[in-house]
Amino acid sequence: MSDWRPPILETERLYLRPIELSDADSIFAYASNEEVALNTSWYAHDSMEATHNFIENYVFESYANEIPEPWGITLKENPEMLIGTVGLTWDSKSKRCMRFHYGLSDTFWGQGIIPEAGRAILDYGFKICNAKRIRAYCTNRNPSAARCLEKVGFLVEGVSRSSLYSKGEYRDACNFGVLDTDWAEHSKSPPLSKSA
Ligand SMILES: CC(C)(COP(=O)(O)OP(=O)(O)OC[C@H]1O[C@@H](n2cnc3c(N)ncnc32)[C@H](O)[C@@H]1OP(=O)(O)O)[C@@H](O)C(=O)NCCC(=O)NCCS
Repeated sequence: MSDWRPPILETERLYLRPIELSDADSIFAYASNEEVALNTSWYAHDSMEATHNFIENYVFESYANEIPEPWGITLKENPEMLIGTVGLTWDSKSKRCMRFHYGLSDTFWGQGIIPEAGRAILDYGFKICNAKRIRAYCTNRNPSAARCLEKVGFLVEGVSRSSLYSKGEYRDACNFGVLDTDWAEHSKSPPLSKSA
């Protein structure tokens, strides 16, 4: 078993850092909120046990396999309190294709936090993991997530009808993708402004 952990990344307002068991309280505070889990593939945590399971069986398992997912998102002024997660998993390591994951406490929605964190993660994916392509998706019922992915730098690729089966129903997936060549161009221009 590897003791690999994702490195700490710094952005203008954030530290992105590995998650520890001691983050359970902060994670439970938002992951237990039904509104946060409304459009996610996971269910709202109904107990601290669910949060401990998430950390021990998903987070630590992922790190043990040297997969850079998830980083904990923290504000620089309070690096103890985890307010969300971002990360990358491999769709295919041999084909250099990755998938971006994201989620944020509702207290911090609408402040451009996932776009800021996401740009650092995509940079990591292209420069450190040597990804050729990174994809992301949201359900067609989640316009905030679609807008957020666009602000990260993803391009719209289309809709896959009923491709998501979650919480007992089929949902349409809005697909997004970005290539290493797009990213090299994108990185030269300033991030999208709020009104863009
Ligand atoms: C969707 C989500 C990832 C967006 O992250 P974010 O850091 O809030 O993103 P932004 O601040 O850039 O906001 C994106 C858009 O959300 C909308 N938005 C703004 N404030 C909002 C609020 N309080 N509530 C809902 N949507 C809001 C706006 O349309 C905004 O676009 P704009 O900046 O052009 O006005 C985040 O809201 C979230 O984690 N939601 C719950 C979990 C989820 O749906 N995850 C995605 C599927 S796994």
